[in-house]
Amino acid sequence: MQKIVNRISTSLKGTITIPADKSISHRAVMFSSLAKGKSTIKNFSKGQDPLSSLKVCQALGINAEFNGDLIISSNGKLSAPTSNLDCGNSGTTIRLMSGILASRDFSSVLIGDESLSKRPMKRVIEPLSLMGAEIISNDFKAPLKINGKNLHPINYTSKLASAQVKSCILLAGLNTDGKTSFTEPYISRNHTEIMLKYMGANISTTGNTVTIEKSVLEPKTIEICGDISSAAYFVVAGLIVPNSKIILTNVGLNPTRTGILEVAQKMGANIKILDEKIISGEIIGDIQISYSNLKSCTIEGDIIPRLIDELPVIAVLATQAEGTTIIKDAQDLRNKESDRIKAVVTELKKLGADIEETPDGFIINGKTSLKGDCEVETYHDHRLAMSLFVAGLICEKAININGFEWVDISFPEFDKLFNLSLIHISEPTRRVVI
Ligand code: S3P
Repeated sequence: MQKIVNRISTSLKGTITIPADKSISHRAVMFSSLAKGKSTIKNFSKGQDPLSSLKVCQALGINAEFNGDLIISSNGKLSAPTSNLDCGNSGTTIRLMSGILASRDFSSVLIGDESLSKRPMKRVIEPLSLMGAEIISNDFKAPLKINGKNLHPINYTSKLASAQVKSCILLAGLNTDGKTSFTEPYISRNHTEIMLKYMGANISTTGNTVTIEKSVLEPKTIEICGDISSAAYFVVAGLIVPNSKIILTNVGLNPTRTGILEVAQKMGANIKILDEKIISGEIIGDIQISYSNLKSCTIEGDIIPRLIDELPVIAVLATQAEGTTIIKDAQDLRNKESDRIKAVVTELKKLGADIEETPDGFIINGKTSLKGDCEVETYHDHRLAMSLFVAGLICEKAININGFEWVDISFPEFDKLFNLSLIHISEPTRRVVI
C-alpha cells in the first residue's frame, strides 16, 4: 500500500489515547497461558505481532475469547501442537516462546515470515542449550525445531542488553528446578520481571541480574497501558511541526522505556509528564508535548536499550536539531525487522537529510529543511513506515511511502488516530494526509 504524506500547513493540536503496548501484550497472553485458570487481559493490542503470540498460544491448546477484554482459559499446561507455530514477523514471539517451549514434554517447530527467518536466533539458542535444551536450526535461523527436555538452571552473563533474550531465559527458568539467573550489560525493558512478579513468580532483580526459581503463575486481570514506542511518533511530530501542542494519554512510562523522553528533553524539548499512576505493576501517565527549538546531543551507552525501537524516529527528530547528533552503541539496530541503520540513512537521505551511517549508529547534521518530492521504502518494517510518515509532515513537497501497510505490525490505528485526533479536516485550508 502506498501512502502520500503532504506537508502539514498548520500546527498539530489535540489529545490522543495511545493504544496498547506491544511488548506487554505479548507477555500478557503468554504468561496467562501458563497460569491455571481464567485470566482477563484488558486493552490487548490489535497489532499483528501480539496477535501472532495469541495464535501460537491457541495452537498450544489455550482457549481465548474476546468479549471486549481478552479472556484466556488454561489448565496451566500447554499441549503438543499439531502443526508448525507461526510467529509471523514477531521477534518477541519466537524468542520468548523458545524459552517457554524448551522445557515442555513435546516437540514443536517455530516458523516466521521472510524477515523473521533472517534474524539471529543464536542469542537464544546458545543460552538455552547451556540449560540442556535441544534446538535444531539451520545457521541459527528460523525455523527452530525444539525438542522439549527437562532443563537445568544456569547463571548466564549476556553480552547483549536484550529483553527478548533475558525473557527467554527467565521463562525457561520459570519451569526449571533451581535458580536461574541472567545478567545483562545494561538494563533492558523489564516488563517480564514486573508481570511475572505480579502473577506470583519467585523472581528478583539485583543490579543488572535477574534471578528466577521454578514457580506456578496465578491467573490475573492485566490491564495494558499505551505503548510509548507508538507514542514516540506523536512526540516527535509535536516537537517538529511548528506551533503544535499534543497531549498523549495512558502512556506506559516504565523507566526502561522512557529513553526517548530523556533524550528529547536533553535536546531542549518542551515535554511535561502529567498524572502518573500504576496499573498492573507498570507506571503510566500523560505526556504533553509542545513544538520546541532543538539542539543536537550524543546518544550512547546504557540509554540505548531504553530507546532502541525509537531510534529511527529520533533520527528524524535530529534532522531538526541545531548541530551534530551522534548515535552510537546501537549496532543491534541492524538485526531488527530491517537493518534499521542502513534503511534510515538511505531513506532520510532521499528526503534531503544530512545523515551518515556508522557501524553502530548515525551522525546527523541539523537543522535541515527536508525537501521530499520522492518515493521512500519501508523495508517491511513498521517503525520505518511511521518514522517516514512523521518526516513527511515537514517535507517541502509530498512524499510517497511504499509498503505503508507494515504499520499494522504494531499500530494499525496509527493513521486514523493521527487524522481524527490532530487534524481538523473541516478547515478548508489544510492539505494534510491523503
Ligand atoms: C522487545 C525487545 C526489544 C525490542 C523489541 C521488543 C521485547 O528487542 O527491540 O521491539 O518485547 O522484549 P531486543 O530484546 O532484541 O533488544
